[in-house]
Amino acid sequence: MCGIIGIKSCVDISTKIIEKLKILEYRGYDSAGVSYLKDKLYCKKSVGKVDKLAKKIDCHFDIGIAHTRWATHGKPTLHNCHPFLSSDKNVAIVHNGIISNYIQIKNELSNKNVVFDSETDSEVIAKLFDNKTLTIDSIRKVCQKLNGSYAIVGLTATGILFGAKKGSPLYFAQNKDEFLIASDIACFEDADSFFTLQDGEYVIVDKKVQFFDDEKIIEKISTQLDFDKYKYAKTHENFMIQEILQTPTLVKRYLLNQQKLNINKYKNVYLFGCGSAYHCAKIGEHYLRQLNKNCKAIVASEIGEEKCDFDNALCIFLSQSGETIDTLNALSLCKGKATTVALINNEFSTLARECDIIVPINAQKEFSVASTKAVTMMIVAMLCWIKEQSYNDYKKVFNINENVLKELANKLYNNESLFFVGKGIDHIINCEGALKVKEIAYINANAYLSGELKHGPLALIDEKAYVIVSCSQKRFVDKTKSTICEIKARGGKIVLFTPFLSLIEALDNEDYSVLLPNITSELVPISALYSYQLLSYYICKNRGLNPDFPRNLAKSVTVE
Ligand code: AGP
Repeated sequence: MCGIIGIKSCVDISTKIIEKLKILEYRGYDSAGVSYLKDKLYCKKSVGKVDKLAKKIDCHFDIGIAHTRWATHGKPTLHNCHPFLSSDKNVAIVHNGIISNYIQIKNELSNKNVVFDSETDSEVIAKLFDNKTLTIDSIRKVCQKLNGSYAIVGLTATGILFGAKKGSPLYFAQNKDEFLIASDIACFEDADSFFTLQDGEYVIVDKKVQFFDDEKIIEKISTQLDFDKYKYAKTHENFMIQEILQTPTLVKRYLLNQQKLNINKYKNVYLFGCGSAYHCAKIGEHYLRQLNKNCKAIVASEIGEEKCDFDNALCIFLSQSGETIDTLNALSLCKGKATTVALINNEFSTLARECDIIVPINAQKEFSVASTKAVTMMIVAMLCWIKEQSYNDYKKVFNINENVLKELANKLYNNESLFFVGKGIDHIINCEGALKVKEIAYINANAYLSGELKHGPLALIDEKAYVIVSCSQKRFVDKTKSTICEIKARGGKIVLFTPFLSLIEALDNEDYSVLLPNITSELVPISALYSYQLLSYYICKNRGLNPDFPRNLAKSVTVE
């Protein structure tokens, strides 16, 4: 969370740095700030999105650092905005991560009469810079005092740009006479050379570029990158709808180049993920149990509460970003004990670097905070492990009548709560549907197992209730009929998602239905998922909200 960038050039970068900061905005958008060098270091800050900051930039400069914030320590106020300056105002820094010992450092510095302007953990980094001249040793000295995680980009009043990394992602790129340090590859679309900084590494751009580790100067080899994969181009009103609608093409492309994984040879298989990625892990558990009975999905942050049997075990980590801290923590507990697999969308992520096997889902960059195409691609990738998937089977998966979903969104958007009800795999897909609605439309949407309704949740159903019931499997049809009757007897209105006409025909005029395509039973849940993604998008739009930047959230959750 939080996006950081620094640029050193020989031409004006005042517009460019803001454009790049906008690319990073998906990482946090509570406030934004920039520091640049003219006759001295200047800071401009604003609460809210980068556009507001852009209005405050009224001069040209060729070196600067910038930050877009997802607040952890201290509210999203002006005084908590990055960048922060050292006491002598000779060093400005931006930070992504959490400094866990910041209170101790703050107390020590306060005792030496250092004055703090913010409630953030990050400001201590700036205030630790107390040398007149900046050297690799002075940067190392500061970093050695920090516990927790950080990616830092700094700028000095003498025109030195530098970066330091531990835990949070940081990349460096050079393009002719321009040097960039940033949290995301997406900022480097036209770079000539590109480098991933590892934990404990530093880059200093002064008269020349030098890389260091904790002891010495190091040589780093530039990585060849296909920047097209990371290009940032908005072709639709919002990234979310753009990304949902990309899914069919991505699936088609993926199926031409399916990556196998031999689940059978392991005694135990564990799948870890957070949020939507955890829902994918649950779906994986459901499908992969066809091959291996000892398959279990675990919420990454709950690994400490589980007893994993690492004997001949395969641990699969699902993550779009590959930077989710809870997933990385789970990985660190499994490393060395089991074979580890990263099912990811970011091949340059920490997860990709740390796992034994990488399975990229090739979903291209996902900007919208709400994960959509990446979720679907993770499921498709796991289905490829069970058996070779044929594109013929997928042709109808995304044949959903969008107009029906738009009309439905018109009916549902004013509700304060929404119920999702289903069995087995449908329940897992419903959990994901409910998460999407909560996340971008701020409606209290919850998924219940149909068999559990009468054990409590049915008390919530009255004439105002809309209940999304899904039935993707033929064997669930009879049970679903009973569920519908139970809900209707309490006055609730049904919104049915199913490919089974017999179920739809049993509904009343006041109920609604979305006909899912008549395809193989293992693929119907993907159609339901795709429909939920579109439905949540249209509900969000009806409520006048921006789906790409839901409140209180960020795309990449790099703090515990
Ligand atoms: C998805 O819509 C959410 N924004 C969130 O639950 C997300 O899936 C979760 O934070 C995991 O992210 P990751 O895939 O990058 O690890």
